[in-house]
Amino acid sequence: MRAVALAVAILVVATASIDAEVRRIRLCADPSNLPFSARDAAEPGFEVEIARALAESLGADFSVHWLSTAREIVVLRQLAEDRCNLLMGVPLTERFTDGKDGLIFSAPYYVMRQVVVSPALGAVRSPDDLRGKLVGVQAMTLSDHMVFERGYPRRIYLSPGETFTALLRGEVDAIVMESPLAGWFVKRNPGFRVTELNEPTRDLKIGAAIRSGDPELKDAVDRAIVKVQERGLSDIFARYGPTLAQAAPESSPLSPDLRAARSTYLTQCSQCHGTDAKGTAAAPNLQAFKGSEDDFVRVVRNGRAGTAMTPWKGLISDDDIRVIGRYIKLLSTSSGRQ
Ligand code: HEC
Repeated sequence: MRAVALAVAILVVATASIDAEVRRIRLCADPSNLPFSARDAAEPGFEVEIARALAESLGADFSVHWLSTAREIVVLRQLAEDRCNLLMGVPLTERFTDGKDGLIFSAPYYVMRQVVVSPALGAVRSPDDLRGKLVGVQAMTLSDHMVFERGYPRRIYLSPGETFTALLRGEVDAIVMESPLAGWFVKRNPGFRVTELNEPTRDLKIGAAIRSGDPELKDAVDRAIVKVQERGLSDIFARYGPTLAQAAPESSPLSPDLRAARSTYLTQCSQCHGTDAKGTAAAPNLQAFKGSEDDFVRVVRNGRAGTAMTPWKGLISDDDIRVIGRYIKLLSTSSGRQ
């Protein structure tokens, strides 16, 4: 047993040296866009705090290049010109990612939803309660779109600030808003509450953008996201509002053996097969593995002679390999979807 642990430890060290290649994370962020980011050491925003946690997990230097993010094209140019190498808060939808050939995208680190904010007294507790109410929304947002589709009477505002003011003044009965903003508002305005709308099809996975010339950074960031999530982002989220803490992509925590399998997978297998097990240039997609669980165990135990897939017999027990197989299955049925 000891010898096995030692062999695995050596492999872990070998993997760590891949991460060490990422020396520096320079984040592009807006100096005044709370709860996302702010040039304020005491309250820098959750995107900045998460980016810093990712850098720490990679042992990389962390700094921020501050600029207004109001215009997407300006921000993307900063990334292209290497004034920063990471942009947080990017929606991982085709609508955003299509046609952005210069960029690659990380795994999601949280999920943005639309939620209802209403006065705690007589609060809206379900979408049905919205019927017949005047609903405030910010123009051109997903929330605006949703309220329009559902046919609720709505009043449209230009910014989140104006929308919140309308609610505070009682101009509208409730507002529908993106969850991070809603949480931030409720945290500072007691007397209001947030209600989730539970519409998974509208969940928006949020990740980070990286220059496409920097795939090593993407891999490192993906691994760091998993590690940072494992430790828990809830402390960071809790500082910026109650809605974020509920929005971790993994709402069902893994059982201890699956957590162990994930950890083994990430340290031993992901550098070739990818953090999401969808394969890389070096090794095939394991989510697409056609064989049975026994076949999986057999391949991993014996390796494939003459390829980079070396035998793991003696390093990882058959039982543990079996759980790794289950963990990969889980990836393909849950977070693997994008
Ligand atoms: C150094 C790179 C590397 C590492 C590390 C690695 N693999 Fe592989 N793996 C490969 C390659 C390359 C193949 C394809 C071999 C071939 O051509 O048949 C492969 C094939 C496989 C296959 C068969 C896939 C199929 O569709 O036939 C499985 C299953 C697999 N690997 C699982 C794992 C697991 C689990 C780990 C970690 C314990 C792991 N691999 C670690 C490179 C790697």
